[in-house]
Amino acid sequence: MIRSKLPDVGTTIFTRMSQLAAQTGALNLSQGFPDFNGPQPLLDAVGRHVCAGHNQYAPMTGLPALRQQVASKVLRLYGVQVDADEEVTITPGATEAIFCAIQAVIHSGDEVIVFDPSYDAYDPAVTLAGGRCVHLPLNEGDFRIDWQAFSDALSPRTRMVILNSPHNPSGALITREDLDTLAALIADRELYMLSDEVYEHLVFDGARHASVLAHPQLYARAFVVSSFGKTYHVTGWKTGYVIAPPALSAELRKVHQYVNFCGVTPLQHALAEFMAEHPEHVDELPAFYQAKRDLFCDLLEGSRFRFTRAPGTYFQLLDYSAIRPDLGDVDMALWLTREHGVASIPVSVFYQQPIAGQRLIRLCFAKREETLRHAAEKLCAI
Ligand SMILES: Cc1ncc(COP(=O)(O)O)c(C=O)c1O
Repeated sequence: MIRSKLPDVGTTIFTRMSQLAAQTGALNLSQGFPDFNGPQPLLDAVGRHVCAGHNQYAPMTGLPALRQQVASKVLRLYGVQVDADEEVTITPGATEAIFCAIQAVIHSGDEVIVFDPSYDAYDPAVTLAGGRCVHLPLNEGDFRIDWQAFSDALSPRTRMVILNSPHNPSGALITREDLDTLAALIADRELYMLSDEVYEHLVFDGARHASVLAHPQLYARAFVVSSFGKTYHVTGWKTGYVIAPPALSAELRKVHQYVNFCGVTPLQHALAEFMAEHPEHVDELPAFYQAKRDLFCDLLEGSRFRFTRAPGTYFQLLDYSAIRPDLGDVDMALWLTREHGVASIPVSVFYQQPIAGQRLIRLCFAKREETLRHAAEKLCAI
């Protein structure tokens, strides 16, 4: 008998739904990845760098040119000067950054506050570090943080709080006022922050992303994580980065160098080159994805699903209570895939304690126009 360190972890719903979509031929709007390619010059650059022989280990902290590009972007977008050598680390995906940040500072018995619904990578990483996640529900409806509940949950063991904005799965955005409130509540505590900002460029309707990088009091204790995979439509590249003050970066790098040592070399060369030549790519992303959200939502106005348009990310939540109130969301997602050919993700899987009676599924709209039209047609026919 193996004494599992993660007894509650099985195959994730993302893998299961993608497999079911493949088996049944359903349109896969479940897992969060585009069904279109990344920018051609970026793809071409990878081939060139592979052929030029950039195929050996990259520096442990990441290619200097790419770290410099990240620092330049952060300065341009958030007005913050970070040191590319001391504060930026390139990682194999945001996932590795999240894992290493948690391992670097969480000790046995520490508590980590996460807000549900939450991305599934946080809890296992905390458990493996010997810590315990304290799951607090976001407000129903708008998915904002209840700061009173947060304040009540703080204990002498609380060592970290994890924020995710724009938020997967709801698309909700944290505001600058939220960050000020958090800073005031934790000012006197020895508490770290993990700010998961992988959807930082996917913010709609003229809103601006409130990055923890631009909040000096919070940044002083933060790991801020982002993902090139999300930003450049290449999720399979699993390349991301983490920005943290020098002392925290140093601790994170101690872990990172033994988890993976470095990210994939030719991808880093290609990303550095593309970022230098196409800084406008990130500026165009909000309009690019907002057009997809609006196309999808306009078409769904003719359906029996109820929804509020996502303020950020590339996910849209749909309330199906007018269609199959008898089904829990996992059964609804299975039914929708098998009977109507559209795969989605049930929102309850993002909760430790699912909300009774909640009838929400998540669909990814990072898809070509024809895929979105096709999916909407199927959903409107229900
Ligand atoms: C909130 C959130 N954080 C992190 C990640 C992981 O990013 P990466 O693919 O770069 O590891 C994802 C991917 O879906 C995500 O949704």
